[in-house]
Amino acid sequence: MKNIEFSKPIINTKEVLRYTKKILLNNFPNEGEATKLFQKKIKKVLKSRYVVTTTSGTSAIFLALKSINVQNNDEVIVPNITFPATANAVRMAGAKLVLVDINPKNLLINIDSLKKKISKNTKAVIPVHVSGRGGNIKEIIKICKRKKIKVIEDAAEAFGSKHKKIFLGNFGDFGCFSFAPNKIITTGQGGVVVTGSKTNYQKMLKIKDQGRAGQITGGADKHVIDGFNLKFTNLQAALGISQLNTFNKRIKKLNEIHNYYKKNLIKNKKFKLFNFNQKHGELPLWSDIYCLDRNKLYDYLKKRKVICRLFWLPLNTLKPYKKSNKHFRNSHKLLNKLMWLPSSLALKTKDQKKICDLINNFYSK
Ligand SMILES: Cc1ncc(COP(=O)(O)O)c(C=O)c1O
Repeated sequence: MKNIEFSKPIINTKEVLRYTKKILLNNFPNEGEATKLFQKKIKKVLKSRYVVTTTSGTSAIFLALKSINVQNNDEVIVPNITFPATANAVRMAGAKLVLVDINPKNLLINIDSLKKKISKNTKAVIPVHVSGRGGNIKEIIKICKRKKIKVIEDAAEAFGSKHKKIFLGNFGDFGCFSFAPNKIITTGQGGVVVTGSKTNYQKMLKIKDQGRAGQITGGADKHVIDGFNLKFTNLQAALGISQLNTFNKRIKKLNEIHNYYKKNLIKNKKFKLFNFNQKHGELPLWSDIYCLDRNKLYDYLKKRKVICRLFWLPLNTLKPYKKSNKHFRNSHKLLNKLMWLPSSLALKTKDQKKICDLINNFYSK
């Protein structure tokens, strides 16, 4: 019997090979025409004005931060429960990381704590749309707009998820997505930044290409600002395009997975499935749960070949970002109580039945 995995990409090998062959025959594996087509398709899917491909979700956040020119004294606010990439991008861009507690009801940044942590040095806030949930985005935008603080949405887990029928990533000054293998579509590694601002867009294009402006010959070109190599490749684009062709099917499947859990997991004081506002288009990339005896449940399921994923540790408990628990009471209360259930696009109904039966059985004891 095979493991039921937390996540597994679905790739149409034939289609990818067809696109890839074309690219290889053109002898241009670097960022080029196929990447342009991928960007165009993303622009259409998300209804974003400008799209910039990059090497990862982490570098997407980094690129957004660099394009607003963050400096050493600038503070950038990040929720205490996120994948460390969010915090690492801030450090990599050279800004000061400020952590804020989360809201235990939705695992998103806590609005009251956010208001308290904003200072005259706050340059940007990076709300994280955990598991695809982004219901607090308008409130954050409202607070930040008043204070002229930039909002960079970490929408790594929210490609295709909406808030009130508008795609997440389009609310802030920037929206950053990841195409790592556990996402709704994957390009192996890779990411994009979307923005509504032409100025931001043009600046990001230069930064991601070693600060180059204008003509690209690879030789005596004009490099006008500090830059990096954050270029995408046509080979990655081929992988991405093939998956975008089945994007609506993927969205449907993720909703079905979550709905099955919602319907079949028995409510219990020790266990709660977090909610998504699916009616308004919020997309559950991964179904997340609050559960007592989490580690025992994880082991119990693993022994029976069901592989869940434990939630990230709060950043303030990790060595690089160590801070007292005093300011992170909600994060601390949730320690060792959060987990993701298998949410793979390849999940079968019979697998989900097994998962639900096992969990219901575990908590009925
Ligand atoms: C919330 C969050 N932010 C950022 C990232 C970083 O994306 P990447 O792995 O593509 O660099 C991830 C990746 O999974 C993520 O989940």
